[in-house]
Amino acid sequence: MPSSPFIIVAIDGGAASGKSSSSKILAERFNLLHVDTGSFYRGVTAELLRRGVAASDLPAVHAAAAQLGFGTRLAGRSAVMEIGGRVIPDAEIRSKLVNDHVSHFAAIPEVRTALLSYQRGLAGFAREQNFRGVVMEGRDIGSVIFPDADFRFFLHADPAERARRRAQEGGQDSITERDRIDSSRKTAPLACPNGALSIDTTHVGIEQVVQLMADTIATKIGPA
Ligand code: DC
Repeated sequence: MPSSPFIIVAIDGGAASGKSSSSKILAERFNLLHVDTGSFYRGVTAELLRRGVAASDLPAVHAAAAQLGFGTRLAGRSAVMEIGGRVIPDAEIRSKLVNDHVSHFAAIPEVRTALLSYQRGLAGFAREQNFRGVVMEGRDIGSVIFPDADFRFFLHADPAERARRRAQEGGQDSITERDRIDSSRKTAPLACPNGALSIDTTHVGIEQVVQLMADTIATKIGPA
């Protein structure tokens, strides 16, 4: 029996709810692989757009999604996805074009299926790389990807506060519209999974949010 158990931490929430900041800090504190699944949906969106595939052309999306070859590189503690051996630059996956299209591609079941086993497989990648576990952020991590995760958190905040945060980051992003599409889709909608700890981050600093999560994790595995 290993002295320190391998743990999976699932963090779900809408755009600019505090997922990325908190999961990166937890990854540092507990030596976890950080996985931003939003970046995967963004990467797939950028790649399909580059190939001229529109989200409305379902047969073309299905055919292309089934053939994307995913790989993984490590950047610090974060998993970075390769598609066909290529990493799509951050500027491209965070562009306005991708912001405007990503929720439409993410609502297509075949796109989600194409990413499902890749995302689950990152737990094995984390073990190979000697991490103590995985902290994975997204919309369906605690509900679909790892419903048996050791820890499941759901972050939310008032839309006005989230828009303010995104504007401060300099992003051009209609987060309310993205959340509307992400929450109303049929497959794996954004929602607080049953049994997850729901945290309102509207008036709480990121340090406090992280402390609450870290305390919860520490009750099970001991301090970081
Ligand atoms: O976390 P983000 O805002 O970068 O995510 C971009 C989009 O990807 C988001 O609008 C919905 C989609 N997404 C998803 O459907 N499921 C996930 N697990 C992560 C992201």
